[in-house]
Amino acid sequence: MLSPQLLVLFGSQTGTAQDVSERLGREARRRQLCCRVQALDSYPVVNLINEPLVIFVCATTGQGDPPDNMKGFWKFIFRRNLPSTSLCQMDFAVLGLGDSSYAKFNFVAKKLHRRLLQLGGSALLPVCLGDDQHELGPDATIDPWLRDLWEKVLGPHAVPLDLGVTAPAVPWPSRFTLQLLQEAPRKCSEELSVAGTDPQGPPSELQPFLAPMVTNQRVTGPSHFQDVRLIEFDISGSGISFAAGDVVLIQPENAASRVQQFCQLLGLDPDQHFMLQPQEPGVPCPERLPQPCSVRRLVSQYLDISSVPRRSFFELLACLSPHELEREKLLELSSARGQEELCEYCTRPRRTILEVLCDFPHTASAVPPAYLFDLIPPIRPRAFSIASSLLAHPERLQILVAVVQYRTRLKEPRRGLCSSWLASLDPGQGPVQVPLWVRSGGLKFPETRDTPVILVGPGTGVAPFRAAIQERVARGQIGNVLFFGCRQRDQDFYWEAEWKELQERGCLTLITAFSREQEQKVYVQHRIREQGPLVWELLERRGAHFYLAGNAKYMPAGVSDALTSIFQEEGGLSSPEAAAYLARLQRTLRFQTETWA
Ligand code: 2AM
Repeated sequence: MLSPQLLVLFGSQTGTAQDVSERLGREARRRQLCCRVQALDSYPVVNLINEPLVIFVCATTGQGDPPDNMKGFWKFIFRRNLPSTSLCQMDFAVLGLGDSSYAKFNFVAKKLHRRLLQLGGSALLPVCLGDDQHELGPDATIDPWLRDLWEKVLGPHAVPLDLGVTAPAVPWPSRFTLQLLQEAPRKCSEELSVAGTDPQGPPSELQPFLAPMVTNQRVTGPSHFQDVRLIEFDISGSGISFAAGDVVLIQPENAASRVQQFCQLLGLDPDQHFMLQPQEPGVPCPERLPQPCSVRRLVSQYLDISSVPRRSFFELLACLSPHELEREKLLELSSARGQEELCEYCTRPRRTILEVLCDFPHTASAVPPAYLFDLIPPIRPRAFSIASSLLAHPERLQILVAVVQYRTRLKEPRRGLCSSWLASLDPGQGPVQVPLWVRSGGLKFPETRDTPVILVGPGTGVAPFRAAIQERVARGQIGNVLFFGCRQRDQDFYWEAEWKELQERGCLTLITAFSREQEQKVYVQHRIREQGPLVWELLERRGAHFYLAGNAKYMPAGVSDALTSIFQEEGGLSSPEAAAYLARLQRTLRFQTETWA
């Protein structure tokens, strides 16, 4: 029999892995297991040797990278000099969260599983490949695995735990206690907490720079389906510096109308202030919030009321509901057999937390404010490729933002939180400030003068390449080839005039694919194939680096196919040799990609 001492460690980028971990923790506690749940990087990794049973819950981000809050652990665990018996006592299981539309699906979880075995751990189960692309949401891949896990941990006699139709008598305690203040604080701590020209290093998540927005301009034509904005920020005095390939993180806010609606539903006064206290030692208060904090600030800047709720949201809401009918419905939606219905109600149509609360008004008005932190995930910053170079635009930072909007079966169109918020800001109407900071990105460009680059960036994928081209031209680096694709020359051809000018100066070779100007679709990969001799010459004889950015869905595979065809036709390689050639380019970082879903 295994010891009932369970540790759940997570690496989470967007919050899903953390949510799954917290659910695991709750399920464990209900099974009388002693369980701790922690972010990987907040756990002293040398203590692993003393742990009998550890569940790792890890997301895979970007191009097969670990989330930021497990980067330290990742470095440690792959140190060469770790003895192969480092974890000989430990039983473990790895639950991965990924997206099967990416080539490196669940790469982090699989690699971690192998490494833990190498270090002497014993796997309780094969790695779980949670998939965001599953039509019923990631829970469809996770739930069966969790059932197996509990069976392994508790033995064959474990009773399956389903909430069924009755709520647990006592809801789990909130992570914080919240004290509403009767009077507003005299000195406004919210102003004090504003970051800016801070002497303690460059702006970061905890101390973003409030960047004045200078421009917010639609760059797509009036008949184009998508509103795409070129947004410029003034970063003078911020201490921010960046290079081509870096990304900017932006902390968005909920729209004022939604904040008001939420407060009304929950019976909260937006102008009231509160203080927070952790319930358990070791659980820090959210560092982004000042103390005291106003309800308005909490709701507009912290609670992600526009996100699609997860199953755990319904589970907790059911426990808090004083209304019999609503409680029954919530229990159904959070039970194992209610998952298809939950998917139909929420996941598929992308119904938001705010909309769900509107459907359960008696429950919403009874939610104790302290539980908001357990119910609603925090708003995550969004990353954008930086589209300008400091060498061409000193003290400025530009991004190209496609305003996300789409329809589901719900009446209201779905809107991306950050892009809609950015698009709504109008610097022409008065000063606008946006909290941001930068982080080094996945794309690295060669520094030598003579190494050519082939850049493939259809649509907004061109953004990081504009920064790269500006930087390379300013430094006198030669050999800049850009493949750009869009629908129509007069609708979504970003920076046309700039590219023209660079071409005339002999600094750029631009090859375009306008997909909708003729009967047949023409994409960047078609143009790449047509340019086979040039591409082969640059890669094989001039040591060029190849870059690809844009939509992850089909384009990367199309471009890879075009390249392997060129290697065969121009280089005379066999099909396996061409695949190996491409793999070598990837390994040596001469083929780099930045794609998004
Ligand atoms: P389409 O919308 O006409 O299909 C930028 O979005 C450009 O990328 C558009 O011209 C778009 O064409 C094109 N695009 C769509 N799917 C693609 C794919 N699989 N490979 C390459 N480009 C694609």
